Amino acid sequence: PTIFAITPTFARPVQKAELTRLAQAFLQVPNFHWIVVEDSATRTNLVTNFLWESGLNYQHLNVITPSNYKLGINDPHWKKPRGVAQRNAALNWLRNNYNTSTNGVVYFADDDNTYSIKLFKEMEKIKVVGVWPVGLVGGLMVERPICDNTTNKVIGFNSVWKPERSFPLDMAGFAINLKILLEKKDTAFSFRAKPGYQESEFLEQLVTRDQLEPLADCCTKVYVWHTRTESPPLRDEQRLIKMGKKSNDNIEI
Ligand code: UGA
Ligand code: MN
Repeated sequence: PTIFAITPTFARPVQKAELTRLAQAFLQVPNFHWIVVEDSATRTNLVTNFLWESGLNYQHLNVITPSNYKLGINDPHWKKPRGVAQRNAALNWLRNNYNTSTNGVVYFADDDNTYSIKLFKEMEKIKVVGVWPVGLVGGLMVERPICDNTTNKVIGFNSVWKPERSFPLDMAGFAINLKILLEKKDTAFSFRAKPGYQESEFLEQLVTRDQLEPLADCCTKVYVWHTRTESPPLRDEQRLIKMGKKSNDNIEI
């Protein structure tokens, strides 16, 4: 199958570093198609040139998050859902460009996580929805589906954060067969999802728990980490800017 990875991204000092880390992992993955969706009014030169030079198969899209749904500078990061409009734009693009004869798997690959190429090998097996552990998320070292060894079925989850969710999984912890998304053509992410319920409310539209396919050795291996990148202190740069200078004149970071 073709692996379609959907990555929402937005401009900030670490953006190119994040995209570089992802691209260099994705280059190792056979049959990979990267759908990068900028949270911006236009497609930026930085991302346009980056993708052009990347050597990857890609589709470059953009859609700006409506301002009433944008995080304020002092808001805690969980206050508003992120990536909603961008992931939906990518789903629409898939629905407009492919039909059920395409053998594909769709994964939501945020730009700040860390991906092992082993993860993408696992995804090739997905018939409906595949699930696996995610490291460093939900207040735990690992958040994961509990898999029964003898039946190879998901019998529960270990999550401690909002365990009452019907699918207590992070965005990085599942992928979906393209056919399912094409058949259920109204499935979308919502700005109205309760905080922390984005993944769960999305999956509820697609499957029931008993349909989940546990991967990564019955959910005992971690091939993706929910890393979060520190925003770098740029106090001296701010000082330079006040003096009409900058360290990155004609240098793209
Ligand atoms: C957690 C999940 O891992 C996310 O997949 C989920 O979207 C988020 O919660 C949520 O509930 O909305 P977290 O690490 O806090 O994630 O989210 P971010 O990594 O900050 O953002 C998720 C994606 O959206 C990233 O690819 C990021 O680049 C993008 N994003 C973020 C934008 O496109 N615009 C923004 O203003 C902020
Ligand atoms: Mn993140």
